[in-house]
Amino acid sequence: MKDYVVGDNLAFELSKLLGIDYLKVEERIFPDGEVLPKLEKEPEINRAILIYQNKKLENVNSYLIKYLFLSKKLKEISQKVIGIMPYYPYARQDAVFLEGEPVSSLYLAQILEKNLDVFITCNSHEHRKKISDLFTIPAYNISLFKEMSAFFSDFELPKTVVVGPDREAKTFVDEFCQSLPSEKYVFLKQRNAQTGEIEFLESDFNFRDKEAIIVDDILSSGKTLLKVAQIIKHKGAKSISFAFVHLIDELGLDLIKSIFPKRIITTNTLENRYFKLNIVNPLANFLKQNIL
Ligand code: R5P
Repeated sequence: MKDYVVGDNLAFELSKLLGIDYLKVEERIFPDGEVLPKLEKEPEINRAILIYQNKKLENVNSYLIKYLFLSKKLKEISQKVIGIMPYYPYARQDAVFLEGEPVSSLYLAQILEKNLDVFITCNSHEHRKKISDLFTIPAYNISLFKEMSAFFSDFELPKTVVVGPDREAKTFVDEFCQSLPSEKYVFLKQRNAQTGEIEFLESDFNFRDKEAIIVDDILSSGKTLLKVAQIIKHKGAKSISFAFVHLIDELGLDLIKSIFPKRIITTNTLENRYFKLNIVNPLANFLKQNIL
């Protein structure tokens, strides 16, 4: 029995880096929206490493049902299934905020782990609950901020400041600065109870002539990063750059481009044309050091 990396193009690239056979998945979508992911062949498998990326414009629920069917199928023919989901959806619904709501992030973990032995994701939104708290199987949340900071190694440290948009981003700033030990600043964010709009508390940090790199886990509408960038620019920063892991909406990217950033670094946890950091490299390293 052999090991296989199973899935899409990310799986193919990962199989090459690990020196493990690749097992392709073919997909069909029926007129009623049903999805049929099919393994190209059905060998007996020792360890299956399943990696599947949510494609551009693909509905997240359609993606999830495909992932569930694939993991169940692999469980039937493999000794062990290692599931890699580069972006973990529903992570922000990690509590009951209004009566009657589901704790979606926990429920999803409970469904996924029925067919997995190990779960791996990247920079899941761990504001209240950690990925390892959601799953009862070994579950890992790999951070990509250190790898993203390598794209800024040409920045002059005394002139650089790494900025987090809110308290939760402090961890991202610290990880980013591990190999780029520049100044750091973290904004305080609050939501206006009347309008629902986010607001940033006044900052006395001196941004004048600084090269600011704003780091965050997710770019969705782009409003968070844009607002922080506008404040910093107004305070006299020389340049603004962005580094974020998950690009959810490319329209959000257009929004932050309106400030003419010096550099934008993101990853391919979700399919997009703009990524600079290919996640298969850090994933391969993590698997070699911790799992395989
Ligand atoms: C919030 O806590 C997250 O870390 C991101 O800052 C947020 O999800 C970004 O969303 P948007 O791009 O819509 O402002």
